[in-house]
Amino acid sequence: MKHVQDTTTLNNGVKMPWLGFGVFKVKDGDEVVNAVRTAIEAGYRSIDTAKVYNNEAGVAQGIRETGVAREDLFITTKVWNSDQGYESTLAAFEDSMKRLELDYLDLYLIHWPVKGKYKDTWRALEKLYKEGRVRAIGVSNFQIHHLEDLLMDATVKPAVNQVELHPLLTQTELREYCSKHEIQIEAWSPLGQGHLMEHPLLQDIAAKHGKSPAQVILRWDLQNGIVTIPKSVTPERIRANTELYDFELTAEDIEQINSLNENKRFGADPDNFNF
Ligand SMILES: NC(=O)c1ccc[n+]([C@@H]2O[C@H](COP(=O)([O-])OP(=O)(O)OC[C@H]3O[C@@H](n4cnc5c(N)ncnc54)[C@H](OP(=O)(O)O)[C@@H]3O)[C@@H](O)[C@H]2O)c1
Repeated sequence: MKHVQDTTTLNNGVKMPWLGFGVFKVKDGDEVVNAVRTAIEAGYRSIDTAKVYNNEAGVAQGIRETGVAREDLFITTKVWNSDQGYESTLAAFEDSMKRLELDYLDLYLIHWPVKGKYKDTWRALEKLYKEGRVRAIGVSNFQIHHLEDLLMDATVKPAVNQVELHPLLTQTELREYCSKHEIQIEAWSPLGQGHLMEHPLLQDIAAKHGKSPAQVILRWDLQNGIVTIPKSVTPERIRANTELYDFELTAEDIEQINSLNENKRFGADPDNFNF
């Protein structure tokens, strides 16, 4: 991994950038347009949005303003919980594609494992995949038991599982399970929603390498084989979060960061959410 556009190869052969740009809580309109444009100009080629972020149209505009070719980009969106089910997922997909101004998508994810619904939702994703509308399909917020259940009936294996993952929630068992099943792990809230910047150990490791705590965490993701999608609306941070290729964490740094795990979630628990 030497460059911001380096990719991992998913279980169906599709290449996905290790580093992407997340746009959760980035407002539609100027805020998301400017953030996406700044990110692409800084070298990101992967953008992570979702229907529920209400900013797919602005993402499309930001992309359009850069003039970067469609085939050089990797766009992810997600089916929201209230749209889950077979027919409703197919309809939600078409609506997202219109807002995103796309004729194919790179990655479509089930946003949360809605009980009693996610298998029908998955059948819709399989149909979209088999028809070539989506280059890869995956899930988000799936625990091992959700994946085991899904894999019993799936005819296409998820390519990706996007989950909350950062130094206070290292997800070791889920990472091992996904690695065994060739499902790429992708970290959401990799920076703990910004709460990890003052952590003394991360600050020490950062100072030693002449980098920031955010850069240390993102480098920890990359060295652990985790796709990562930090969010920022601050141009200097958007750019700084790509500057990950001029240093290397030692095995000891990585061990120390691993030992910070507290199974602490900043977001919802996939086994106990009410939305
Ligand atoms: N699948 C899911 O259920 C799910 C859930 C949550 C998130 N996600 C995805 O994951 C992406 C990232 O997660 P997130 O947005 O929750 O949080 P995050 O990326 O962990 O953290 C974002 C926060 O960190 C700040 N920040 C960014 N870079 C920084 C830096 N270099 N130094 C200091 N502070 C910095 C940002 O501030 P500013 O913006 O003010 O600069 C923002 O407050 C989302 O945008 C979304 O695409 C998915």
